[in-house]
Amino acid sequence: MNAQQQSSQDEPIIRFEHVSKIYNVKGQEVRALDDVSLEIRRGAIYGIIGFSGAGKSTLMRMVNALETPTSGKVYVAGEDVEALRRRGLRSLRKNIGMIFQQFNLLESKTVFDNVAIPLVLNHEKKDAIKKRVDELLEFVGLSDRARSYPAQLSGGQKQRVGIARALATKPEILLCDEATSALDPDTTEQILKLLGRVSWELGVTILFVTHMINVITKLCDGVAVMEHGRIVEQGSVLDVFSDPRAEITRRFVSTVIPDRIPDSIVEKLKKEPHPGTLIRFRLRAKAATDNMIWQIDTGFKVKTNVMFASVTELQHVVLSVIILKIEGDPEEIKRVTAYLDAHEVEWDEVKI
Ligand SMILES: Nc1ncnc2c1ncn2[C@@H]1O[C@H](COP(=O)(O)OP(=O)(O)OP(=O)(O)O)[C@@H](O)[C@H]1O
Ligand SMILES: [Mg+2]
Repeated sequence: MNAQQQSSQDEPIIRFEHVSKIYNVKGQEVRALDDVSLEIRRGAIYGIIGFSGAGKSTLMRMVNALETPTSGKVYVAGEDVEALRRRGLRSLRKNIGMIFQQFNLLESKTVFDNVAIPLVLNHEKKDAIKKRVDELLEFVGLSDRARSYPAQLSGGQKQRVGIARALATKPEILLCDEATSALDPDTTEQILKLLGRVSWELGVTILFVTHMINVITKLCDGVAVMEHGRIVEQGSVLDVFSDPRAEITRRFVSTVIPDRIPDSIVEKLKKEPHPGTLIRFRLRAKAATDNMIWQIDTGFKVKTNVMFASVTELQHVVLSVIILKIEGDPEEIKRVTAYLDAHEVEWDEVKI
């Protein structure tokens, strides 16, 4: 590989640079995206999570020019999407497949013909189409359903057809907009496994938009959290979810990594004359506890009591969340928190 090829391999396959999008709805401006910058490396499985209206779909749809930015730039494989669009969309769309929550299959066509659509549009020869579609149906495990119609398939099977169709032109990028949100948990799991194979076996870069955090923790390596058209947090799934900074990220994370004292205990604590200071620790793997509670108990003039504890595995790393009630002189409690800072323990105070 020469230096130029090497640098194009290192270059992010998708790059958003200060992208904003303003829609005009009946004379009112709606800011769907507000100065979004993000880079996705080649081969990544990257998740974008946010509540409804956060701007996730708008952002994703800029990658294949279904939307255009009001300002800012989007690059795919180093090329300006706007410039590609002006030159014609065929080569861009050939390189980018997309799947949807509602599958978007043509009901009047068989599974085979649905998967063949992008190849027919590319004027490929009949026998080449047959070979490719057979190969794709085999990959998604639907060889025996080639002659079925979408109405005869389950949701999971329909999404397999969607995936096969999206991969027909051998794209480098697969965009998934809430692709598992209409499926039950078991079927979701199967589709995520299939998408994992799309990444590992075919080397396709996956961009996955969802409002469901468990999908991100199972599938993705990187994640961006969106709120009101902005990216509020981004990084590796492990970094972002083990130490969530933004309130919205904490809300998402708390559904998969419990970190709150149960309501019944909160009620009891509120009634106590000396509720103490509640400190929440987030510990990763080896750092886990490391006798920390013992250190606090023996090293300081305070009384501790565990109010809550949870242990979760995320991307093969064990994460523990412990909420400790610490009673004692406020100055002594300050010494405890200074000790935690000195040992780089992630902590925050819980207010009830
Ligand atoms: N074509 C459009 N015209 C006007 N406003 C739009 C258009 N598309 C999106 N919006 C607005 O832009 C904002 C972001 O929408 P977007 O669909 O990107 O959000 P989302 O995060 O994908 O939400 P959801 O989870 O519901 O799919 C919303 O306020 C939405 O109403
Ligand atoms: Mg959307």
